[in-house]
Amino acid sequence: MKINTAEFVVSNSESKKCPNEPIPEYAFIGRSNVGKSSLINMLTNQKYLAKTSSRPGKTQLINHFKINSNWFLVDLPGYGYAKVSKKTKSTFQKFITDYFETRQQLVSAFVLIDIRHDAQKIDLEFMQYLGESEIPFSIIFTKADKVGRQKVPQLVAKYQKQMLANNWAEMPPYFVTSSEDKTGRDEVLNYIDEINQDIFKNQGPL
Ligand code: GTP
Ligand code: MG
Repeated sequence: MKINTAEFVVSNSESKKCPNEPIPEYAFIGRSNVGKSSLINMLTNQKYLAKTSSRPGKTQLINHFKINSNWFLVDLPGYGYAKVSKKTKSTFQKFITDYFETRQQLVSAFVLIDIRHDAQKIDLEFMQYLGESEIPFSIIFTKADKVGRQKVPQLVAKYQKQMLANNWAEMPPYFVTSSEDKTGRDEVLNYIDEINQDIFKNQGPL
């Protein structure tokens, strides 16, 4: 898919104030610093569309970006980084779960995982939450440039094994990406495009 236009629309802390337009929407979620905002810039070929930082906690709001005038990419805050009390630390920020539970337009989520890391409890919990909420999702492994091409298959296999050991019957569809060298760009965009084409063909209300 060719990206002709990519524009920032709005930032929100409340899902009910997100754009009303009934067009397909794809959300990027994952721990802070995993590379969500960088990936949005890589996919859209824009350096500064989504704000990135080497310090965790950069993205604090729900950010809608309109692509090719007919679908949304959504950049979300990290779920491992919130200035919350010790008591509520293990739960996800409420406005994030509100977002996932109320967005009718949401077609699919992408859960981003740093390819260098073992499966983490919070990621597995979030995927479990998505599964229970019947929200389709895929995994995007990020920062593949940091490990080298030949190590990728064994790291993916290790992750898969860890998911299976945590009661998953199978690993969801996955992509391997690098925002540095644009690995995985075509694969992710083509995946979105295929779903969009299906939706546009059957054009009912979302
Ligand atoms: P929050 O907004 O804090 O939740 O983080 P985020 O997930 O949006 O991460 P962000 O895109 O801001 O990236 C965090 C850091 O990782 C930045 O220093 C990026 O330059 C770096 N980074 C992101 N993606 C890649 C990648 O594919 N390769 C390399 N080498 N660095 C990356
Ligand atoms: Mg961010």
